[in-house]
Amino acid sequence: MNLLSQTTVLHISDTHMSPEHPLGRQMWTSVVRYTEKSRPDLVIHTGDVVHDDPDSDTDYEFAAFQMRRLTTPWRIIPGNHDIGDTEPDPYRGLTTPERLKRFRSHFGPDRWAITIGDWTMIGLNSQLFDNHLLEEETEQWAWLDEQLAGADGRPVGLFMHKPPSINTLGEDLFVNKAVGLRSRSRLHELARSGVVKLIGFGHLHEHVVLYSAGALLVGAPAIGAVPAGESVWQLGLRCNGAVEYRLSGDTVRVRLLREQDLGMTR
Ligand SMILES: [Fe+2]
Ligand SMILES: [Fe+2]
Repeated sequence: MNLLSQTTVLHISDTHMSPEHPLGRQMWTSVVRYTEKSRPDLVIHTGDVVHDDPDSDTDYEFAAFQMRRLTTPWRIIPGNHDIGDTEPDPYRGLTTPERLKRFRSHFGPDRWAITIGDWTMIGLNSQLFDNHLLEEETEQWAWLDEQLAGADGRPVGLFMHKPPSINTLGEDLFVNKAVGLRSRSRLHELARSGVVKLIGFGHLHEHVVLYSAGALLVGAPAIGAVPAGESVWQLGLRCNGAVEYRLSGDTVRVRLLREQDLGMTR
């Protein structure tokens, strides 16, 4: 193993940004400063970048500006607060073509693949899983197949907003807090076949680490001020912070960075 080939990915999530919420902005500033010091090779934001309302142009403009303060490479995928959700009971309504367009115009493509060190990292729009926008969903799965083929045997990390499951990838429990059963079974198969080694997600606002079907499942806690009415699941550690991955060969070391590690002050 060549220790010099180590690469670092900083996984952040649920910044819930709005000019109306100075606490979130303060916490975000700490993250920006942390990245300036630690210089991760890549920052991945797993969604809910805007505070609450997917149709708020003000919050979108604010969040897009804040993301551009990062001086390291970064990628983002959308969450339910950014583009709406799937059935049943979508909080803030369903994902719509207009909402997808708004996200893409501010942040670029809602799915992406990037080779970093020995790994291929792939961002997916989990709000399109088991979705009524069938064409968008089908296109994304076809695109994923192409990216996995292109990974050419490199370990693959998938990143998405919603957790792929609550406990194991093989479970048939469905709650709208996790992705739907049809999509989960596809993700389960990708893990079982040994292609996908890591799945990073947000949405729970809790730090969770699980191992299932040969893949490490890691939930990043929230960075920002969480909108009122968000339920507490207590599946993991409720805190503010981020997750750092250190990648070397096919090894991934996972470290939780809490508020004090990021230099956050309140
Ligand atoms: Fe969130
Ligand atoms: Fe969310």
